Amino acid sequence: MKDRGGDYTKTAIPVSKTRAATGLHTDSSALDVLPDLVGLICIRPAKSGGSSRIACALRAHRRLGEEDPGSLTMLEQPHLRDIVTPGADRSQQMRNQFPVFGDQSGRGVTCRYMRFWIERGEMLWVDNCTTLHDRTEYVDDADAPRLLLRQWVQYVH
Ligand SMILES: [Fe+2]
Repeated sequence: MKDRGGDYTKTAIPVSKTRAATGLHTDSSALDVLPDLVGLICIRPAKSGGSSRIACALRAHRRLGEEDPGSLTMLEQPHLRDIVTPGADRSQQMRNQFPVFGDQSGRGVTCRYMRFWIERGEMLWVDNCTTLHDRTEYVDDADAPRLLLRQWVQYVH
C-alpha cells in the first residue's frame, strides 16, 4: 500500500492508495469480495505517522446489542456502497448493498465497515407537504465549491 497521490474523497480509489488517515474500517467495498484476513507488514516506515490500529468489531456488535439495539438493527440493514475495490466489477453498482453487521456467507457475525463509502451519496428526502427544510450559511472552498443536486418527485395519485 503506497501513496499514489490521490484523494479518496474526490475520486473512487481505495483509501489505502493515499496517505490519508483511514479511520477504522474493513477492507473491500465490493459485495462479492470479502477477504477473510488482511495482512499488513511495513517494509519501509513513513517519516512520521502511519501506525496501524485495530478494534474488535464483535465487541462493538455485542455492546450495541446491549446498549443501543435500535442502532444495531439499523446497522443490520443493507447499505448501498460505492465500489472502489481494485479489479471489482463496477457495473453492478446498485446491487452492491450489504449491512455493516451481518452474516455474510454463513460466517457468523461479520462486520463490513467503511464509513466514507456509505456516507458518500447519501441523499436527504423530505416530505415537502409536511416538513420544512433549511440550509445553514456556508463558505466555499475555491478549489472544490459546494455542489448540491436537488430532485423533485411528484407522486402519481
Ligand atoms: Fe484497509
